[in-house]
Amino acid sequence: MKKDLDSYIERIKTLPTAPGVLLSLITLFQQPDREIDDVAELMREDPSLTAGVLRHANSASSLPDQPIVDVFDAITWVGFSHVYQAILAKFASQSLRLPKGVCGINVDELWHHSAIAAVHAAAIARRVEENETVAFTAGLLHDVGKIILSMAEGQAYNLMITKAGVDGSSLQAAEKRHFGFDHAEIGAHLLRRWGLPAEISEPVLHHHDIDWDQPSALTCALVCLGNIMAHDFEAEFPVKRYEPTRALSAMRLLQLEEGDVVSLLKVAQKDLKHMSGLLDDRA
Ligand SMILES: [Fe+2]
Ligand SMILES: [Fe+2]
Repeated sequence: MKKDLDSYIERIKTLPTAPGVLLSLITLFQQPDREIDDVAELMREDPSLTAGVLRHANSASSLPDQPIVDVFDAITWVGFSHVYQAILAKFASQSLRLPKGVCGINVDELWHHSAIAAVHAAAIARRVEENETVAFTAGLLHDVGKIILSMAEGQAYNLMITKAGVDGSSLQAAEKRHFGFDHAEIGAHLLRRWGLPAEISEPVLHHHDIDWDQPSALTCALVCLGNIMAHDFEAEFPVKRYEPTRALSAMRLLQLEEGDVVSLLKVAQKDLKHMSGLLDDRA
């Protein structure tokens, strides 16, 4: 299988190289002794982010005693992990795109969905006391395989998605039949080639298919449920209608009841507002 994935990936001429800032951020946040200076340094890549974080730190919802004018203070005030999530979401959606002239999925829509799934996965992680940063990162990248398949297959892949409808498992089955692998497998494979750790690539690999026996089963369940809740959030249908068996399986693994999921949807809604405040790039 690894050989098939390698040869498929190597045939794509427009395949993105590992986006430097994205990898630096992910590596940085895995270090326990990370410094605010390092985060601020990465933010310099995009001045609108610094402006957004400063504006948000001084917004009515934050209400500091004194106006915050320094970016270091703003990061501390807003919260390290919220700033990380906003920067990662922004850089991922800017750097992983389809090249000009390639017809495929709507990448803006995909990143919108991925950010929503990531925020939900992070909210669940907080509730069950798992690593929120890992859940967010894996949640954000869970469907990156769809970009790869679009690069390689163009419009034909769109057609496959349309035929599969909203049911994630029938898309997976169609991909397997057609290519011999699905978007989760090719996405996880790309992330491994970029050098991302298994704690990120494994949940991407299993986001439609939790393997209870492997070490990152809990993170897989976070991303799986985050993805399902994102579909709920976007399409406004109950969580259990999209991949019902997997939703229940993830909830069981995370020891969550239906009532927990309902309250987590509200928490994630607040988190999403918070994040769009940080990414608001009004001058
Ligand atoms: Fe997926
Ligand atoms: Fe998804």
